[in-house]
Amino acid sequence: MTNSAATSERFYLTTPIYYVNARPHLGHAYSTIVCDAIARRKRALGIDTWFLTGTDEHGQKIERSAKLAGRTPQEFASAIAGEFRALWDRLGLTYDDFIRTTEDRHKRGVQHLFATLRERGYIYKGSYTGQYCVFDELYVDGPPGTPCPDCGRVTETVSEENYFFKLSAFERKLLEFYEANPDFMGPESTRREVISFVRGGLKDLSVSRTSFSWGIPVPGDEKHVVYVWLDALANYITALGYGSDDPADQARFAKYWPADIHLIGKEISRFHCVYWPAFLMAAGIPLPRSVKANGWLLFDQGKMSKSRGNIVRAETVHEVLGADALRYFLLREIPFGQDGNFSFDALVQRYNGDLANGYGNLVSRVVNMVHKYFGGVVPQHTENWTHHGGDLLAKSAEQRIHEFAKAFDGLEFSRALEAVWDLVAMTDGMLTSNAPWKLAAKEDAESRETLVNCLVTAAEAIRIITALVYPVLPDAAAKVWRQLGLGEIADAAKQNFLTHLAWGGLKPGTKFLEPAPLFPRAEKDAVERMVAIEEQNNKSVIEAAGGAAIPEQPTPKAQPATPQPPESKKKAEKKPMEETKPTPAPEVTPAPTASAAPAEAPQAAPVTPAPAPAEPATSAGTEEKQYIAIDDFAKVDLRVAQVLVAERIPKADKLLRLEVDLGYEKRQILAGIAQYYEPEKLIGRKIVIVANLAPRKMRGLESNGMLLAASLPPDGAPVLAGFLEEVPLGARLK
Ligand code: MSP
Repeated sequence: MTNSAATSERFYLTTPIYYVNARPHLGHAYSTIVCDAIARRKRALGIDTWFLTGTDEHGQKIERSAKLAGRTPQEFASAIAGEFRALWDRLGLTYDDFIRTTEDRHKRGVQHLFATLRERGYIYKGSYTGQYCVFDELYVDGPPGTPCPDCGRVTETVSEENYFFKLSAFERKLLEFYEANPDFMGPESTRREVISFVRGGLKDLSVSRTSFSWGIPVPGDEKHVVYVWLDALANYITALGYGSDDPADQARFAKYWPADIHLIGKEISRFHCVYWPAFLMAAGIPLPRSVKANGWLLFDQGKMSKSRGNIVRAETVHEVLGADALRYFLLREIPFGQDGNFSFDALVQRYNGDLANGYGNLVSRVVNMVHKYFGGVVPQHTENWTHHGGDLLAKSAEQRIHEFAKAFDGLEFSRALEAVWDLVAMTDGMLTSNAPWKLAAKEDAESRETLVNCLVTAAEAIRIITALVYPVLPDAAAKVWRQLGLGEIADAAKQNFLTHLAWGGLKPGTKFLEPAPLFPRAEKDAVERMVAIEEQNNKSVIEAAGGAAIPEQPTPKAQPATPQPPESKKKAEKKPMEETKPTPAPEVTPAPTASAAPAEAPQAAPVTPAPAPAEPATSAGTEEKQYIAIDDFAKVDLRVAQVLVAERIPKADKLLRLEVDLGYEKRQILAGIAQYYEPEKLIGRKIVIVANLAPRKMRGLESNGMLLAASLPPDGAPVLAGFLEEVPLGARLK
């Protein structure tokens, strides 16, 4: 079987649909921004484009998160889905459809797909006893206790009557398909991984669940709900109208399916490159043309994710530097397909270097000079201008148009942008060597002609640059287009302006608009402002966590997180933004507990403003560091414990009573965290306690230990310490 090789003049691309167990962060924005840039370019090339995104709202993970937040799954899902959609709108993302898996159109399509698979003999009933990772909604091979191969969390044993999909029947067909379609999966690492997974043998896949109900009922057997990944993957066809009787839906499906690109994160390639094609083959539906995986956005050296607590929100960057800056950074800084670091410092450096001082400055110089020397009207230049670098620039621009197209359409966005910024640099260089500001002071004919030619050439280069970067910098490109007197770039895009982009389009007599700032230089405090917004965000989320749809809260890192080069290298590479003072990082301190605070004022630490975060000893420069000996530290018995019971204490609105299990014993601890944590959310959670603190009594109850938590500025809001890996109860921290 082959997928249709030729891309017709319509283009369908999709993002993964996002789980609604947590609010969107930059990692989610990344995939959606990449798709938006692709969609904008395709449209401007006159290709009928359909860009789909949406939210994945069913499954045990969402059901549990909703329960913890004290909401129904539907309410919970709607709240978060609304946040995703609002953010995409705020960032100006031009999706054509936003599918929610709780919509009727989707449910109908999934049931149709399930029934089709059953009718065609690919689904049968059996029973499953084995391991399941709720976090990844993944069946895992191995005995009880086996960790999830994807996230490392402990799996749960499930024993259920299930419907099974005959995945094993597709092993050979999939391998043949991959062979016949070498560009189906990318990058190469994904392709290799998927092929080796399939070569390792495919077992039939359980595609229904009975132990919970938050899902799409299996048609004709409603005590089962459809496995969340079958449900989710089907969004790519249900959103187009698969399974609908409406002729308009059927026409849309016929027009856009198969998808040209499913853009996904690398960790979900197995679902998209193995399960999804197998489902489609079994149902007799054509396969997507390609599945392309982006790498992970890392922050603080780990994948940015809610559960690691190292997220940054797109809103933060948007607020301080604008959406274009974020788009540019993500596409320029990270070679697509690879993991890439996000750091506020790197972001600001790129912004100032490439946007403010580079493209922005070039536009402002040229537009200003055309106003100053020619009253804002493009003068008539000399035909065949071959002196002073003008012809060279024209040739380079033509070359860059091709280079950009080749790289961008091959998803090498970083290389594509690099090619355009070469043109920015060349144009700058051409201006500097001709020095039009000096020529303007001269009266001779030759100087006048060079002045005209060099400014017209620079303006034309800007026009080409702007057209090329429009999919990546849509807001800035729109402003520049207007300043060049070319009207609305969105209208130009509708007229497929990228199909006939060639040197020489700027006509004499065109009237420039007044120059307007594009990328004001980011001041030194830009990093601090973004860090502060993140901290504030995190704090308000914690405060809201009582009733809000956020089951577990992340701890943003206050420091920019690009791995720090060694000191010597750091000095050599020092860039302006490194002068920015880092905001003090939140300290890790014991969460206020009965032991940590006097019985009379147990709530003091989390409630009243905490003292300002301690200055790191070194920052004062004059103070000696206060060291403790290892033996001193060894006196503190830090242990892993699990919360068995968590409840409020009558008339003590800031205190929680916890019963924790240390493996070797159970004990009671009182903690002043009631304002920040709903008791139910703590049950089952593994925490760290100081196990050898002298017992204290308060409110008539004894507290035997103290919880550890990060204390966030400005008022010491606690965020409990925990572990990403599975750790046994009672394990000692040392
Ligand atoms: N719901 C599934 C996808 C179903 S598609 C039929 C899911 N959701 S998710 O919300 O966990 O992730 C959605 C996408 O966001 C994934 O592609 C994932 O890789 C991406 N990202 C989440 N965090 C990310 C980073 N830190 N970096 C890059 N992408 C990240 O999986």
